[in-house]
Amino acid sequence: MSNGPGESVTGAGNDAEPDGELALRTLCMPAVANPSGDIFGGWVLAQMDIAGGITASQRAKGRVATVAVDAMTFHRPVFVGDVLCIYAAIKAVGRTSMALELEAWALRGRQGERVKVTEGRFTFVAIDENGRPRPVPPEEG
Ligand SMILES: CC(C)(COP(=O)(O)OP(=O)(O)OC[C@H]1O[C@@H](n2cnc3c(N)ncnc32)[C@H](O)[C@@H]1OP(=O)(O)O)[C@@H](O)C(=O)NCCC(=O)NCCS
Repeated sequence: MSNGPGESVTGAGNDAEPDGELALRTLCMPAVANPSGDIFGGWVLAQMDIAGGITASQRAKGRVATVAVDAMTFHRPVFVGDVLCIYAAIKAVGRTSMALELEAWALRGRQGERVKVTEGRFTFVAIDENGRPRPVPPEEG
């Protein structure tokens, strides 16, 4: 991000445990598989965008829009029958924008091994009723 947020909110994560709060959990169905039978990466990205949008909208107390998606890495495939868990961590808050790290973890076969499959940095902007940027309100408490 070139001129984004400056206020650091959470620390760095690691590969052994998810970084952030569980924001979304869903079962990977055959309808979102690619022709090889694995889950389509674009669907995983969309779930991460939804999860990040929920977290950002709670922090911004209202409507947000995704302005940028950076550093997406697809570490491992996702399979039909996995439970996809998306973790969100707010890393920085600027005037109108919020930088979030999103991690997607798969529970193999619903209850097996938990592996990090995808991660990326998403930037959301708080917007008003006209779709224009508005300041992110101060954090409560
Ligand atoms: C989000 C949107 C309202 C921002 O409008 P804008 O006129 O570009 O706003 P600004 O230039 O004032 O930037 C707003 C904030 O976003 C940040 N920003 C803008 N572009 C960015 C980028 N590519 N990466 C990271 N941050 C970015 C700015 O740094 C600024 O942050 P700050 O206020 O915390 O300093 C506008 O770009 C938009 O409507 N985009 C489409 C959003 C959308 O439809 N998303 C879904 C896509 S399917």
